[in-house]
Amino acid sequence: MSLKISRQDFDRFMIPVYNPAKFIPTHAKGSIVWDQDGQDYIDFTGGIAVNVLGHAHPILQQTIQEQTSKLWHIGNSYTNEPILRLAKQLINATFADKVFFCNSGAEANETAMKLARKVALDVFGKDKSNILSFNNAFHGRTFFTMTAGGKSDYSKHFEPLPKEIQHGSFNDMQSAVQLINKNTCAVIVEPVQGEGGVIPAKVAFLKKLRELCDKYDALLIFDEIQSGVGRTGSLYAYMYYGVIPDILTTAKALGGGFPIGAVLTKEKLAIVMTVGTHGSTYGGNPLAGALGSKVLELIKKDKIIEGVAERHVWIVEHLKKINKDFNIFKEIRGLGLLIGAVLNEDFKNQANNINILASEFGVMVLVAGPNVVRFTPALNISKKEIELGMQRFAKACASFIQNR
Ligand SMILES: Cc1ncc(COP(=O)(O)O)c(C=O)c1O
Repeated sequence: MSLKISRQDFDRFMIPVYNPAKFIPTHAKGSIVWDQDGQDYIDFTGGIAVNVLGHAHPILQQTIQEQTSKLWHIGNSYTNEPILRLAKQLINATFADKVFFCNSGAEANETAMKLARKVALDVFGKDKSNILSFNNAFHGRTFFTMTAGGKSDYSKHFEPLPKEIQHGSFNDMQSAVQLINKNTCAVIVEPVQGEGGVIPAKVAFLKKLRELCDKYDALLIFDEIQSGVGRTGSLYAYMYYGVIPDILTTAKALGGGFPIGAVLTKEKLAIVMTVGTHGSTYGGNPLAGALGSKVLELIKKDKIIEGVAERHVWIVEHLKKINKDFNIFKEIRGLGLLIGAVLNEDFKNQANNINILASEFGVMVLVAGPNVVRFTPALNISKKEIELGMQRFAKACASFIQNR
């Protein structure tokens, strides 16, 4: 078999859980990606809210080289300097005083819910086992996190599902009031629903969840896998909302492109997770630690979060202009650089068609469900890159309108 690679190889050899774009990216710099044919694309996806400092950041490259020349995996029979440094940085910057490291968002949420269950079991007994999550939420693809997610499209194929997870209506305080009770051990919520359509929570909704959790001794888990590490214009979205969770999960952008996940919490809760109750072979490895630590350092040093608000405005202004010309969107919503353009009724279910056309015009975007085009670029994307990307996106929208 020839080892020359083409896009058809994906269809031939890969278990078909994805339907990737028709081109294969081969290299990238900042927010520009090149494919096998040398065609360039402006990247408004940021690797799905991951490449927070863009592609091939020279200091992150240097960090990988330095750390791989020292120690890149050692196993959890030993601890290591980079991961402890990252733990200190996260603790210094947030409400938390204890951290657990893993490799992905789903694992972080799985850990958070296990922690909540263990606290409830140890302190209150086995009846306090219910977890409240919300319709349209996305928390990952493990059995537990997929069940907590609020899209049956993702979970119905794998029934029977773990029990004792209820789903309320997002942003609906009454629904939460009805579903939380003394048997609730945790409420898990995304401060901004990402995959579910880029829907920011209302401040009053998160405040109400905090109040209800306090009333019923339930733990409030904020899933900040997508909204964290500066994306919404605050280091974590809970800071913007002024609502402090008991447990926060973070992943994606934390490694700047290298897999890492983390669970942040308070000592009084963390103590239930005694030696042997949970773990991960790769979680907390020194290479991930070094990268996470450097990402946080660079975000602070280069004042990356301070630039998010103006980039939000640049992108939204372009989208509004495109909408003026083509009347495609009924709403442009989101926080910081987590932006969703919601298609109006005439273009129902066509977000992916726009996504495909966009790449034909040299710009990479995402969808968030069938009706929302999503933008999650690197937080340091330049004004020039935004302008060029939006010119191309406007052309894709023009072609979409002409050919429908
Ligand atoms: C809010 C949220 N939680 C959890 C996850 C799952 O993260 P991972 O794919 O790293 O397991 C995602 C991924 O998109 C997410 O957006």
